[in-house]
Amino acid sequence: MQRCLLLVLALLGVDSASPPAPARPEAEAAALALPEDDGDDGDDARCPLESETQTLSVPDPLAARTCRYVVVTHCRTFRDAQAVCRRCYRGQLASVHNDRVNELLRSRARLCTNQGQVWIGAVTRPVGQTVRCHWVDRSRWNYSCWSPGNPLCSGRFCTALCTNNGSWRSVCCRTKLPFICQY
Ligand SMILES: *[C@@H]1O[C@H](CO)[C@@H](O)[C@H](O)[C@H]1NC(C)=O
Ligand SMILES: *[C@@H]1O[C@H](CO)[C@@H](O)[C@H](O)[C@H]1NC(C)=O
Repeated sequence: MQRCLLLVLALLGVDSASPPAPARPEAEAAALALPEDDGDDGDDARCPLESETQTLSVPDPLAARTCRYVVVTHCRTFRDAQAVCRRCYRGQLASVHNDRVNELLRSRARLCTNQGQVWIGAVTRPVGQTVRCHWVDRSRWNYSCWSPGNPLCSGRFCTALCTNNGSWRSVCCRTKLPFICQY
């Protein structure tokens, strides 16, 4: 009896290790969500100290709720930044859906960082002649504020908000920048 049980468990074990089902659209989105980088996690996902952050609450009258953001002033790759947003704030890199929030995030980031650019949660990739854009929190892509010549179409890129003028630029995802989480 016991041997049978073990055999069943072993088979289940083998089964759960078999290759995943064919990719669904969501799976493709998930693969896109975090562009691969050098895989060097190190301790870069440690939670920021309070002295390394600035929080910001933005009432959203339409949705009758308040969006909370935190600007993290220490520099991380895009992937590590998203890992910090998830683990430390149960959030995501920020998505931006209107000029008002873009300007609020820009001005706060400008006050507390000196890098000139901060990560926001947009990722882009070329598809044929166009560039497809998405937010890592999977919210709708219904607003953008690209600098002239952006987003770049020569590969996958992550997106930084320029703190001087609020426009967005494509930046190599491995670059280490301050970042903005929403939670
Ligand atoms: C854009 O999408 C966001 C997230 O889904 C939503 O909250 C916002 O109201 C939308 N804005 C417009 C102008 O459609
Ligand atoms: C905003 O500033 C960045 C960085 O200084 C610059 O590259 C970009 O062209 C500017 N964008 C606009 C729309 O002026």
